[in-house]
Amino acid sequence: MNRNDLSLLLKKHNQEHLISYYDNLSQDDKYKLVSQIEKVDWKLINLIQQENQQEKSGLFEPLEGMRIEQIESSKNFYYDLGIKAIQTGKVAAVLLAGGQGTRLGCDGPKGMVNIGLTKEVYIFELIFNNLLDTAKAANTWIPLYIMTSIKNNEQTISFLKEHAFFGYPKEFVTFYIQDMTPSVDYGGKLLMEAPDQLSLSPNGNGGWFSSMIKANLLSDLHYRQIEWINVFAVDNVLQKIADPYFIGATIATNHLSGAKVVKKANPKERVGVLCLEDGKPSIVEYYEMTDEMINERKDNGELSYAFGVILNYLFRLDKLEDILKYELPVHVVEKKIPYLSVDGKYIKPTEPNGYKFEELVLDMVHLFDNCLSFEIIRENEFAPIKNATGVDSISTAQQLLMKHGYDL
Ligand code: UTP
Repeated sequence: MNRNDLSLLLKKHNQEHLISYYDNLSQDDKYKLVSQIEKVDWKLINLIQQENQQEKSGLFEPLEGMRIEQIESSKNFYYDLGIKAIQTGKVAAVLLAGGQGTRLGCDGPKGMVNIGLTKEVYIFELIFNNLLDTAKAANTWIPLYIMTSIKNNEQTISFLKEHAFFGYPKEFVTFYIQDMTPSVDYGGKLLMEAPDQLSLSPNGNGGWFSSMIKANLLSDLHYRQIEWINVFAVDNVLQKIADPYFIGATIATNHLSGAKVVKKANPKERVGVLCLEDGKPSIVEYYEMTDEMINERKDNGELSYAFGVILNYLFRLDKLEDILKYELPVHVVEKKIPYLSVDGKYIKPTEPNGYKFEELVLDMVHLFDNCLSFEIIRENEFAPIKNATGVDSISTAQQLLMKHGYDL
């Protein structure tokens, strides 16, 4: 595209500022910038005016799931079934590690954060230990795929190599890189992070499967004869990975997907709640729930919408392939986005300054015909590290880990 066409295109979309540094760029850098601009999905920018229209609007009903007592009563059966699925090589795990951890304020990959008190204990280390626990119980290795982003891929790989994958065999670990999307300021202007570079950020954890396909990993999954994929976040240091009970219960009850859930600490807890929307499983965010839904109770006094997701899902691979044809909704998320100011300074804001566009794994659940809501004991399996201080922070995770006898 020549300068004139570029200028016309940017004018049409009200983004002429992107050309401010163009004339001083080298030929290669001009090419780099133009190729990024050509890839911009202009529809995304209109979404910032329509944020509320993204909210779910179907008919919601509670989803009865499998509760702790029920799991307890059949636990040996589920465990054996889950272990068998793992031992016959039907289960893979996907670690979502492409996020930027802006709330935590870490510069590099969140998994590299040391949460030890008297020694080094890395988030990645705890995650690998959790996977090792299952691998040891099943006496086999579980293929692990790690999704990174272009921003943290190299650092993640070299960190894990340096630590010898915390004891996991590297032949069973595969990395792939997720897609990126542009970010905008509150007025809808695309942000730049360098004169030849739009401010691009990872496109949310919902792109994990499509990015896997783009990375040509579907044939790998088929070659390994994988049937189930356990997808999980990097920041819940207590979670069980490829949990045989969860896998066994999902298979035994003929579900196509499963979600680990915890009982909400209080009706207004800020978690996504697994329920039914128009008869299909759906995760409704806390800000999408009406007061009526938040407070509705069953005859026995329990909350009707009582169980929140923890970002640990099980999906059947053949069904994931079926739903690839559907587009996931794009969420407009307010974030702190580093950018190049008009006078050419690189600014790292301390407060949110614009929007990123993200697809979320929780929206995949609605594309499945059913989903097992599998209850876990919160304090045993849920220690997320999201914020620098306060709730769901390093210190709350440390306390929970120490309660479980971890030496930090
Ligand atoms: P979060 O939604 O908590 O995002 O991610 P985050 O990037 O870690 O943190 P904030 O919101 O910027 O503070 C939940 C999980 O999804 C992964 C994260 O790495 C984490 O494991 N994720 C998130 C991705 O893999 N890619 C993304 O684009 C976003």
